[in-house]
Amino acid sequence: MRVRILGSAAGGGFPQWNCRCPTCEAGREGVRARPRTQSSLAIRGDHGPWFLVNASPDARQQLESLTPLHTDGLRAPPIAGVLLTDAEIDHTAGLLLLRESVAPVRVYGEGGVERALRQGYPLLPILERYCGAEWQTLAAGKARPLEGSSLTVEPFDVGGDPPRYLDGSGVELGASGLVFRDRATGGVVTYVPGLAQFDDGVRSRFAVSDLALVDGTFWRDDELAQLGISDRSARDMGHLPLSGPGGTLEALAAFERPRKALVHINNTNPILFEDSPERAAVVRAGIEVAYDGLEVEL
Ligand code: MLT
Ligand code: MN
Ligand code: ZN
Repeated sequence: MRVRILGSAAGGGFPQWNCRCPTCEAGREGVRARPRTQSSLAIRGDHGPWFLVNASPDARQQLESLTPLHTDGLRAPPIAGVLLTDAEIDHTAGLLLLRESVAPVRVYGEGGVERALRQGYPLLPILERYCGAEWQTLAAGKARPLEGSSLTVEPFDVGGDPPRYLDGSGVELGASGLVFRDRATGGVVTYVPGLAQFDDGVRSRFAVSDLALVDGTFWRDDELAQLGISDRSARDMGHLPLSGPGGTLEALAAFERPRKALVHINNTNPILFEDSPERAAVVRAGIEVAYDGLEVEL
């Protein structure tokens, strides 16, 4: 299978339009830090088409990097469907950008994500009126094949809070990680752009993976408070921080087998400085910092 990081930044991208924090300023200069688009992945089995995993607000430019499997006729979609780990705006707003599709857009996710995208942020009813949307429910812990592909996908719970637009709606929802297995090559990729709890379910998936793409949103739990941007901690936002006790670097140190790379990196995170001590600590821990365009064949 082939995995391509289309966007390695968290919501807002890097640099973020309204942010003058030190990392965003470096991203603008493009010297110590490289710009990044918002969180998204493309994946393709040894046989079959690309699938988009999370539809970011940058989907239009991200999809330009993918070649369609079939190009007979003028309209040739580069993806056969969209898989969602959650219903956050930065992972779903790109669905609206697919409305030019000739066929209904196939969208896969857990039942709670569908409810959120009907009741809280009604992207599915909107898409239905343009090109159509064909919802496919995924169940936690159950692997299922992706149509026309040698891949299977299995979601699993990783904790976290519902998107803020659901406040007061009564819709309960956490985030999922996704395990992709290629029946043709045996390759296994686990993708977790939002990780709130590093429990046995997460550990057992990482232990059997060849590649783990892991939540690298924040370096510190109080990163936003320190910069005076927000009172909410990383954990309040459903993201374990990388550093500190119980942080992701410590938890990942136990794993030798998978290749590990950080994704969904917030624009305030000092690991974005390529010459920072925080970046050096990540590298020393045997972990990579993913970037847009990083591609892995498994
Ligand atoms: C998250 O990753 O926690 C969300 O995307 C944050 C947000 O944009 O509200
Ligand atoms: Mn996000
Ligand atoms: Zn910033």
